[in-house]
Amino acid sequence: MKKTVLTGVKPTGNVHIGNYIGAIRPALHMAQAEHESLFFIANYHALTTIQDAKELRDNTYHVTAAWIACGLDPQKTIIYRQSDVPEIFEIAWVLSCYCPKGLMNRAHAYKAKVQLNEQEGKQDLDFGVNMGLYQYPILMASDILSFDTDFVPVGEDQIQHLEIARDIAQKINHTYKSQVLKIPQAVVQKDSKVIPGLDGQKMSKSYDNTIPLFAESKSLRKLVMKIKTDSLPPEAPKQTEGSVIFQLYKEFASQDEIATLAKRFETGIGWGDAKQALFESMDKVLTPLRDKYNALIQNPTELDQILAEGAEKARQKAKHVLERVKTSTGV
Ligand code: ADP
Ligand code: TRP
Repeated sequence: MKKTVLTGVKPTGNVHIGNYIGAIRPALHMAQAEHESLFFIANYHALTTIQDAKELRDNTYHVTAAWIACGLDPQKTIIYRQSDVPEIFEIAWVLSCYCPKGLMNRAHAYKAKVQLNEQEGKQDLDFGVNMGLYQYPILMASDILSFDTDFVPVGEDQIQHLEIARDIAQKINHTYKSQVLKIPQAVVQKDSKVIPGLDGQKMSKSYDNTIPLFAESKSLRKLVMKIKTDSLPPEAPKQTEGSVIFQLYKEFASQDEIATLAKRFETGIGWGDAKQALFESMDKVLTPLRDKYNALIQNPTELDQILAEGAEKARQKAKHVLERVKTSTGV
């Protein structure tokens, strides 16, 4: 039996270079291994924060097109919208009946909100918390458990959510003295790198320092030219260590090119030239991705069809799990 690997992403905002190198590329790498792979857009999770219909719809298409442009093959990976698989929500209810309320009180996103309210001296510690945010981990557990998932590649911030999914599944299995739900494992990227943004901090939407993955060549060049550097003169030797330009270059250039640029840093290179080299290497790698993205995003009907076909396959799988859950619980 092939093992199942499942990845979910929230459709929030514009995909950037940090997302590509830190999350998309490694996840696609894993999907190519000898696994059955599922990938979904967690649009109901996004609804906890994005409450503008156009924004949510556009973001969902954007993320779908982005992952396919980066190499996700819908023939090999089942790709679907979370909202198109109602079985997930049915199973989520069952899970919630086995989830102690205290477990949700300790979930990090909720706890962080409460702490913030505390710091700000708010009377109501639950200010700004909707039930969707509160129960977020239960729906996420269902995303995973509804497909008999073996492996879930996640960043460190999601480890707690995986633990919650395992806890709930174990509780159900224990109650009914059988393997109703498969216990999933988190696959945490140990050597995960932090890609710096234009200002040298971690590239993040929250810091407004990103390079959008599909920026057109002209604006890509403009952004690269904005990367913060020191004021060393062109002839001065430069450190590759800690240089944003060099760090990004390493992600896009070949080994030989990297060695050549390292030499030029050593012997002195003007920042303008270094940035030009970086821009050229990025543009070379990103142009085919951008072209594919642009073609897809202009054709939402095709995206809808890909997602509908994926949902059909996903539902077949989730139906089996739902049947098992219903039979085991006596519902
Ligand atoms: P943002 O910080 O821009 O809001 P998200 O939190 O939506 O990004 O991240 C989505 C995925 O991309 C996560 O798996 C995260 O680990 C990865 N990621 C985001 N920014 C970076 C970065 N600068 N370097 C490496 N990985 C990143
Ligand atoms: N919570 C994840 C995030 O914020 C997204 C997500 C929702 C997810 N359901 C999932 C990830 C199931 C993996 C598996 O990134």
